[in-house]
Amino acid sequence: MAIYHDCADHIREKLAGEPPKRAFILGSGLGDLADAIEAEAEFSYGELPGFPVPTVEGHAGRMVIGRLNGGRVICLQGRAHLYEGHPVELVTNIVRTLSCLGVQELIITNAAGSMNVEAVPGSLMLITDHINYTGINPLIGANDDDFGPRFPDMTHAYHPDVQAALKSSAGACEVTLHEGVYLWVTGPSFETPAEIRAFIAMGATAVGMSTVPECIVAVHAGMKVGCISTVTNLAAGMSAVPLTHEETLSEAAKGARDLQKILKHYVAAHPL
Ligand code: HPA
Repeated sequence: MAIYHDCADHIREKLAGEPPKRAFILGSGLGDLADAIEAEAEFSYGELPGFPVPTVEGHAGRMVIGRLNGGRVICLQGRAHLYEGHPVELVTNIVRTLSCLGVQELIITNAAGSMNVEAVPGSLMLITDHINYTGINPLIGANDDDFGPRFPDMTHAYHPDVQAALKSSAGACEVTLHEGVYLWVTGPSFETPAEIRAFIAMGATAVGMSTVPECIVAVHAGMKVGCISTVTNLAAGMSAVPLTHEETLSEAAKGARDLQKILKHYVAAHPL
């Protein structure tokens, strides 16, 4: 039995009823949302077999299961990034554990650099599609047919129904939601201006170091995926401000307030 089955069993033992069908992965500086949950159960990643222990400030490493504004959710505060030296299987373990628990919808949030000058730091961007620029795919290796097919279709990686629902919640909360294509880089170095010009020519709107592997594993497992990025900076070469992780965290906190509003509305308005 794979490690994600063991992990899902461990989680189920602590829950009174069925696990929620919706999960959130919270990105850099967005962890506060987990504190707004009326918790039924809580786990540190250290006690979850196959989960990563995060090494980066802004990523707590905690799973909280409970009610957010009335809607039941599994909230993951902290994720594995490749730049930490984690193998990509850790990402697979997290998302497959959710699948084993019966999760049908995964909402991913992240911090990203923007290549659209109108999507300024502190603003939010709905991800409509992605570009995998790493050459790494979490599904490389033997296919686990229990989850999905060898060659999964990624045409609707970010599910149109979830996109529409997130847009309607943003509208109801009177928050501007930009839209764009997210390009995945491994990091940890930020991009060069020449790379950013190349990414713009490729059709990307946002750049970041996460999300795409989670999305791929979730789509493979048949989940509907949605994603909102918090813009923490204009991408390299597009502004005079130097790129730092401190800036990422402080701008993410501004966007996080609006993102919390949207997600609280979303879980109540679109029950699963
Ligand atoms: N590049 C890559 N990842 C990021 C950035 C960026 O500019 N901002 C936040 N995460």
